[in-house]
Amino acid sequence: MVISLKNNSDLAYFIARMGHELRTPINAIKGFTDVLLSEAFGPLNQKQKEYLVKMTVSSDRLLEVINQILDWAKIEAGQDPLLEETVNLKILAMEVISLLEVQYSVKNIKVELLNTEELEVKGDRTKLRQVLINLLSNSIKFTPNEGKIGIGYKKTDKEALIWVEDTGIGISEKQLETLFCPFMQGPQLSTKQKGTGLGLWICKSIIELHKGYIWAESSPGSGTTIFIRLPFLIN
Ligand SMILES: Nc1ncnc2c1ncn2[C@@H]1O[C@H](COP(=O)(O)OP(=O)(O)OP(=O)(O)O)[C@@H](O)[C@H]1O
Ligand SMILES: [Mg+2]
Repeated sequence: MVISLKNNSDLAYFIARMGHELRTPINAIKGFTDVLLSEAFGPLNQKQKEYLVKMTVSSDRLLEVINQILDWAKIEAGQDPLLEETVNLKILAMEVISLLEVQYSVKNIKVELLNTEELEVKGDRTKLRQVLINLLSNSIKFTPNEGKIGIGYKKTDKEALIWVEDTGIGISEKQLETLFCPFMQGPQLSTKQKGTGLGLWICKSIIELHKGYIWAESSPGSGTTIFIRLPFLIN
């Protein structure tokens, strides 16, 4: 089939079609590397082990990037339709807070659920979970040890407002302008903080699929809050 790439959705369709071609070889590299590392075909010397571990780390990283781009492409190409489920925000937030416990505990960061009431929205639970995971991971990554993070939600007129706030390094006014674009990362990130720069871009895509809106407010040096408005409020 001839694919001409004229716009974003053509591009997304092209990438989504390429998914299999990209994932299969990288999974083969990972598989063979694991077999060699298991020493099933004979013992390895220290250098060989060291290089194979580096290959595993790099292929994991590559697979993560490919998966993130594919997630975006599938949504944009309309190949990942939105499920209309009843999502309890309290349960979802608690789930995500417990999922990332290891990451924030090692930094002695306190993560608090700011609400106790039940609030339900109509949306795609897996995708909304992904959004909260991305936002909480960012807050953990960009908040120094002993910091604080809160996840809150409330009912507004016809919408639900959800937010993730932190006491982290903050985001400059200039970076806020392109925050939700792919590969836009802040300056001077340490190797530990360095990701791919795709997390917020995917969040935006998922929230827009829900006909919602996502934005950030930040004071450099004292913290960031990412807000989401979701229109599909059930009650
Ligand atoms: N809570 C936050 N506090 C400070 N800076 C942030 C925060 N969230 C995002 N950023 C900035 O926005 C950039 C983009 O975030 P995004 O989640 O898209 O990418 P990433 O975290 O760098 O990589 P990825 O999520 O793909 O692993 C980050 O690199 C960082 O500079
Ligand atoms: Mg991120």
